[in-house]
Amino acid sequence: MCGIDGYAGKRKAAAILAQGLIDLAYRGYDSAGIATIEGPRIEIFKREGNNSPEELYKRVSGLTLAGTVGIGHNRWATHGAPSVRNAHPHLSQGKRVAVVHNGIIDNFKALRAELEHEENASFRSDTDSEVLAYLIERELNFGALSLEDAVHTALAHVEGAYAIGVICTDYPDQIVAARNSSDLIIGVGEGELFLTSDEAALPTEANLKAAMKDGDIVTLFQNGQFHIRGHSEEDKKRRLEKVCIMPGQSRLGNHAHFMLKEILEQPEALRNALRGRIDLAHETVRLGCFTPEVTRQFRTCDRVVIIGCGTSYYSGLAGKLYIERFARVPVDVALASEYHYSDPIFTGREVVLSISQSGTTADTLNAMRLAQKHGVLCLGITNRVGSTLAREDDGGVYLHAGPEKAVASTKAFTSQVAVLALIAMKIAQIHGQRIDHALLRGLDALPSQLELVLRHQEQIKALAARYKKAARFVCFGRGYAMPLALEGALKLTEIPYFDAHGYAGGELKHGPLALIERGVPAIAIVPKGPHQEKMISNVREVVARKGEVIALVTEGDQALNGIATEVIELPEAPEEFISILAVPVFQLLSYYLGLERECNVDRPRNLAKSVTVE
Ligand code: G6P
Repeated sequence: MCGIDGYAGKRKAAAILAQGLIDLAYRGYDSAGIATIEGPRIEIFKREGNNSPEELYKRVSGLTLAGTVGIGHNRWATHGAPSVRNAHPHLSQGKRVAVVHNGIIDNFKALRAELEHEENASFRSDTDSEVLAYLIERELNFGALSLEDAVHTALAHVEGAYAIGVICTDYPDQIVAARNSSDLIIGVGEGELFLTSDEAALPTEANLKAAMKDGDIVTLFQNGQFHIRGHSEEDKKRRLEKVCIMPGQSRLGNHAHFMLKEILEQPEALRNALRGRIDLAHETVRLGCFTPEVTRQFRTCDRVVIIGCGTSYYSGLAGKLYIERFARVPVDVALASEYHYSDPIFTGREVVLSISQSGTTADTLNAMRLAQKHGVLCLGITNRVGSTLAREDDGGVYLHAGPEKAVASTKAFTSQVAVLALIAMKIAQIHGQRIDHALLRGLDALPSQLELVLRHQEQIKALAARYKKAARFVCFGRGYAMPLALEGALKLTEIPYFDAHGYAGGELKHGPLALIERGVPAIAIVPKGPHQEKMISNVREVVARKGEVIALVTEGDQALNGIATEVIELPEAPEEFISILAVPVFQLLSYYLGLERECNVDRPRNLAKSVTVE
């Protein structure tokens, strides 16, 4: 939520900052802005709207801005409407200081009221962030000996989560950055430095990086040197690591959109998630995080709690089915935002699995921290190496799905569900249960089978053209297909903005059937397996009420021919893996419906990928 960048070096900063904001746009895009030091002044450029980073880039590329030190920001509105006025960077009252801020200052109202009342301060925006610019300039006026000192003292007044970047006309060769709970990374190139919320947005010129830690205040100098307040040169060197994101991985390449790119990358992403983790010969699963201590905790635990948000929550629902059925250990799945405030019961015999693609979702992190405070072992499942979740968990499993940039999660879901199946099998092993060889083989075969599913693109594109004006969508499935019905409906909501609902097949008669009328498309997930007969009855119930059913069936199965309006055939696989196998159908349908309805598929309205506020 919100992306920050910064540049200090010899090159002109404006275009570098704007390009960085394009690469960070998935974190928020309702407005974008940059500030550079131009001689004795700070110049600020801002744009508002979904394409603000690109528009900003166009604008500054046509200007002759000479400044080589600057900061930038993509916003996802929290305090104050999305507008140029509320866009960052924010200037201080005396225009000496500009600030970009990601996070929320919890006590800003009180601070602002106090400053307005006691110091006659006036603010131009509705944001919490502008208060920071004021406070930093005030410290400079009070005689702070450096920009770093001013930032340090100003932050002492502030409660909440933040990552900030600050420039000041008194110190034209510096950016001061500070972190508390929001990611911030310094990229090191030849005689130049970059600041970014996400390593994936670092330009190719940065070959080393240093992740900032909570409490860090770092000064980045124009000559390419940086200094971490209170830390020695040796400490700093120890922090430096190689940048490990391949630049091409996070660029669009020949694809029309990141969403389509990431949907199509799923077979490869899944291969990477499974690589080296399935041992077919010995019928076992290998996961590095199962150290002797973790294994002991799983042996003695009597409950697993899975927490996550959005798509990660739905993959958690699939994880519950796996762990309960394979290992016979009870599982609770909780929305992280609810769990944190639900006064959960801790018995000392549970293990928590926290799932987050980005590893930065505030709700999930806070829920995990709560469990850790009660001494609970928390394993993380994340896609982002070195993310906050990965740093704070007590061990975990990486997805290795590669960068996911489209706001709606796609390839992370398939990898999360697969990793949860592996974890469930591992827990089953620990509890002395045999892993079914057919299941293990089925999991191993999924990447190739996904390639076959993705061949349905044209059929799905035609469906999108047919249903682009539908009143709503209803998605339903039973058993292992139930989490998928929910995730499928979420995709149809996020991207083409449909009123879409996901249900367990058996629930249709308890309410959702009221949504069915002539022409309403209902997507039924009906693979071969124990639920098939009941699902066919549900399909008939929908058709009897004049709904149109799009049925996802096992290849060659003709049971719904002549009943469903459209049948999409999926390769034969253990029904346990239907969520992985069939999810691309929902993703592609949402993508093409989004295009039909002229939606911004990579940057849906009002959403952001990395939600770092509660
Ligand atoms: C945001 C995204 C969703 C995502 C959710 C959880 O709301 O728009 O696509 O599922 O966050 O994200 P996480 O990174 O924690 O999996």
